[in-house]
Amino acid sequence: MSDICIEFDDVVAGYKDFMILNNLSFKAHRGSITLLLGPNGAGKSTALKALFGLLKPRQGRILLDGRNIAGATQKELLAAGVAFVPQGRNLFGQLSVYENLELGGITLGMKTTHERIPEILELFPRVKERLHSAAASLSGGEQKQLEIGRALLLRPKVILIDEPSIGLSPLVVQDVFRLLRRLADEQGVTVLMVEQNVKSALKISDYAIALESGRLVLHKPAGELLADPNIERLFLGGAHAAAAVAPATV
Ligand SMILES: Nc1ncnc2c1ncn2[C@@H]1O[C@H](COP(=O)(O)OP(=O)(O)O)[C@@H](O)[C@H]1O
Ligand SMILES: [Mg+2]
Repeated sequence: MSDICIEFDDVVAGYKDFMILNNLSFKAHRGSITLLLGPNGAGKSTALKALFGLLKPRQGRILLDGRNIAGATQKELLAAGVAFVPQGRNLFGQLSVYENLELGGITLGMKTTHERIPEILELFPRVKERLHSAAASLSGGEQKQLEIGRALLLRPKVILIDEPSIGLSPLVVQDVFRLLRRLADEQGVTVLMVEQNVKSALKISDYAIALESGRLVLHKPAGELLADPNIERLFLGGAHAAAAVAPATV
């Protein structure tokens, strides 16, 4: 199998007649973490949604392990091992922690789900302590950990995660980042992450790409960007990011 897990090949996608992603092409290696940067409205979340089948590309291909998944159904994507942790809070607040995990396993069947829940809880001891509490009563950090745990129930090979650090304390953010790094290193999970906490996120990422108006304006190893004194400006896009476009870094 090729070392490339995810490939966007000339993808054009948007909402109704308004195109947001404009000929977007990039590749991500298996077991790597790619950070998506760019100003608000650049199309970062749209790129994740397109990969998760929430938006059908008008043009181009989205390849998962070499197979075109553009336009695949949600069920097919979950079965193919793609997990999505959207921005914000995405739990059933009045249901318990345990019930939220059970719902995450809906495509697995209850037997497998119940077998896997203890493994997930080992990763998140704080969540484990609150197993029978309503999800809404957890702290923001615990809720995000529960969402990630729910996604991990599927033993995904790809995790799409959109701005996980919003509303979390710096320590929890570090825990989340470290967990993603471990999943990539130990299980070969491929991660695409949108994150505004650029410096901390770059430290655990392998590559960064930046979008501007749905176009790729940068694709570089994360370590190179971390060493860049103008790093703050990358996050806003603009001429500096455009000047930094590197050809074929993967
Ligand atoms: N459901 C939607 N319907 C119409 N336009 C949308 C929708 N979601 C996002 N957009 C628009 O698409 C553009 C890109 O949005 P998004 O991908 O969320 O940007 P980013 O995540 O980079 O901030 C924005 O102009 C946004 O207003
Ligand atoms: Mg977004």
